Amino acid sequence: MAHFPSAFLDEIVARTDLIELIARYVELKKSGANFMGLCPFHHEKSPSFSVSADKQLYYCFGCGKGGGAFQFLMEHDGYSFPEAVEYLAEKTGLEVPKDSGPAPQEEARKKQALALLDRAASVFSNALKAEQGKSAREYFQRRGLPEDIIQQYRLGYAPPGYGFMQKSFGQDDRILAQLEAVGLLFKGDRGYADRFRARVMFPIRDRRGHVVGFGGRIMEKGEPKYLNSPETPYYHKSELLYGYYEHRDAIRKRKLLVIVEGYMDVLALAAHGLPVGLASLGTAIGERQLREILRLHAEPVFCFDGDRAGRQAAWRALERMLPILVSEHGPRFLYLPDGEDPDSLLQKEGPDAFKKRLEADAKPVLNTWLDGLRSLAGRGAEGRARMAKKADAMLADMKDDYLKQAWRQEAEADTGLKLREQSKPVKATRSVSSYASPSARNQERFLAALLQIPSRISFLLQGEDNFILDDTGLNDVYTRALELAAANECVVQALLLDFPQEERIPLWASQSDISDGEYRKLLLLMQERHLKQLRKQPAPPEQAEYRLKRLQEITKKLKEVDINAE
Ligand code: UTP
Ligand code: MN
Repeated sequence: MAHFPSAFLDEIVARTDLIELIARYVELKKSGANFMGLCPFHHEKSPSFSVSADKQLYYCFGCGKGGGAFQFLMEHDGYSFPEAVEYLAEKTGLEVPKDSGPAPQEEARKKQALALLDRAASVFSNALKAEQGKSAREYFQRRGLPEDIIQQYRLGYAPPGYGFMQKSFGQDDRILAQLEAVGLLFKGDRGYADRFRARVMFPIRDRRGHVVGFGGRIMEKGEPKYLNSPETPYYHKSELLYGYYEHRDAIRKRKLLVIVEGYMDVLALAAHGLPVGLASLGTAIGERQLREILRLHAEPVFCFDGDRAGRQAAWRALERMLPILVSEHGPRFLYLPDGEDPDSLLQKEGPDAFKKRLEADAKPVLNTWLDGLRSLAGRGAEGRARMAKKADAMLADMKDDYLKQAWRQEAEADTGLKLREQSKPVKATRSVSSYASPSARNQERFLAALLQIPSRISFLLQGEDNFILDDTGLNDVYTRALELAAANECVVQALLLDFPQEERIPLWASQSDISDGEYRKLLLLMQERHLKQLRKQPAPPEQAEYRLKRLQEITKKLKEVDINAE
């Protein structure tokens, strides 16, 4: 991180309007000195996400996520730190300083790779429009995808035979090696060969809209039906969702999210005026994807085939969801008639009938769970026992204690058996002091007081007593804060970058301000504690005497503060 000059980073922060940046995703309402809204990082029904305009910080009292503009882009949009810097620099009309050293090689390589993938999407898209793309155009037409959908999703065509990539990109060895690295070429017996041939192409975009890979469908019969990009440093199929970038806003606006199995289902929904579909990329849906889904919308509908394979897939998704699920979530499961998928149903019945199915036939996750248990366990007393055991095992994965209790009761009512899985104590809510001992609590509060009003640090620098905090975690932040203030830097913003692991910094900095009176007392307490410790160490008589005198002064001042406070 060190390669951007801090004055430059300060300037970016100074020019960035965090409220505006966040308001693109979160509806913010003014509330006292801050703005409040629903947290984009966890699901909630009443706002605990606060943004401070003058501090340029955000903090969620529900989930504890917080930071400044850079952290928001990194956390919310998946930017790397240099990407966040670059984005905000451009937005605020600043030029990234050249002498800040070369961006790490990794970043440069990624940029090139993404540019190449983007070009490849255009190459496939042009091939679709060209003479050779006629059969592919007809294919999309047959499947009911109109021109605007083809444009918007950048659908394309990879012609049959080998050599199309070379023809489009040239013979430069470096470029060919890059095309191999992003999965578009592979090395065969006779050199590089095109991975995608004679297929209609579906570019897959990451959360920021970069094309990172492709799925390609064969147009006639053949194997495999869909060919996907291999895993590359930029394409991780277990982390991506098809449609995420295109549909994120519509899903939030319409409060509707439909999880489907295939690319074509996502596109068919969009073509029928429902740009709210997401699909995993040819793999079973994983925990990371489920987190993303539930964060985007608390009540997604998961569509599965009604056949055996579909039920199994639904069960797998349900199992993986258990550790994430909280009572604010309301996922539902919809089984479609045998042999149908959302695409085929939409073509047959149209969007209104499909919406009706979503409303009427999608079952809550709890019912899906109980039905699944029942059908797995079988009949009779043994069946009920098996069902209870399986329920126990699955409940153990759940983290939301109340939800777990509720589910357990349902399973007990269903089986008529007592389940064992015990509830764990509920986690305490967050507060500025997470420490048990009063002394550590005071140290934390003192540090918070400094970060809330950084001019206090500047005064501290002019004072006569130097002291440290004896909680090392707090002291690290404290000493760095002093250094930053001495160097005239934006203390809090710089601390956020220096201590990315320390989640409490935004909390300390953005809680409502600690009063001057309390701060004075905390400062005296810090000095008192430090002097007491010093007096335990041997010292020349002169120094010992001075320390004693200081300690007496401070103790006296502390008494006055207490009397004034009463
Ligand atoms: P399906 O076989 O259900 O196909 O695969 P589909 O989506 O209905 O496709 P169409 O309608 O026949 O065109 C569902 C998803 O599984 C992945 C793809 O992501 C596909 O969209 N898949 C399927 C593969 O990755 N490879 C395959 O060979 C088949
Ligand atoms: Mn299909």
